[in-house]
Amino acid sequence: MNKEELIREAFQAMNNTYSPYSHFPVGAALLTKDGRIFYGANIENASYPAGNCAERSALFAAYSRGVRREDIEALAIVSEGKRVSSPCGVCRQVLYELLNPDTPIYLANRNESKTVTPSEILPDAFGMEDLAE
Ligand code: THU
Repeated sequence: MNKEELIREAFQAMNNTYSPYSHFPVGAALLTKDGRIFYGANIENASYPAGNCAERSALFAAYSRGVRREDIEALAIVSEGKRVSSPCGVCRQVLYELLNPDTPIYLANRNESKTVTPSEILPDAFGMEDLAE
C-alpha cells in the first residue's frame, strides 16, 4: 500500500469523527509491516480535555492488538483544514515513543500532503531513556 492509498484510508476513518465541539474532523490510518490497517478518528467530550486525537486513537487501537513500534510501516493523518495540519504537542510526545524515530508520518488535507518523522517533529524529546538510572 502506497502513501496515497494510506491517506485515502485515513479519510475513510475521518468519517467516524465525533467532533461536535470543534467541528474539525481528523482521521488516521496506521499501516503495519504485515499489511494490517488500524483506524482512528478524533473523539471529543463535553469535558474538553477528555477527548482524544485521531492519531492517538489509531496508535492505541494498534497497540491494544499487540502491535509495537517496530511493526509499524507508516501512519497517515488527515483533516479538512485549509492548510495541512500537524500533530498537537501531546500527540508528538506519544508518536515519539510509540513509533520509531524515522517512521514516515503522512500529513494531508484534500489538496496536498507532506511527510515528516517523529524525530523531526519533536527534536530533543523527553523519553524513556531519561528515566533510566
Ligand atoms: N486533532 C486531532 O485529532 N489531531 C491533530 O493532529 C490535531 C487536532 C483534533 C482534536 C480536536 O478533536 C480537534 O482536532 C480540534 O482540535
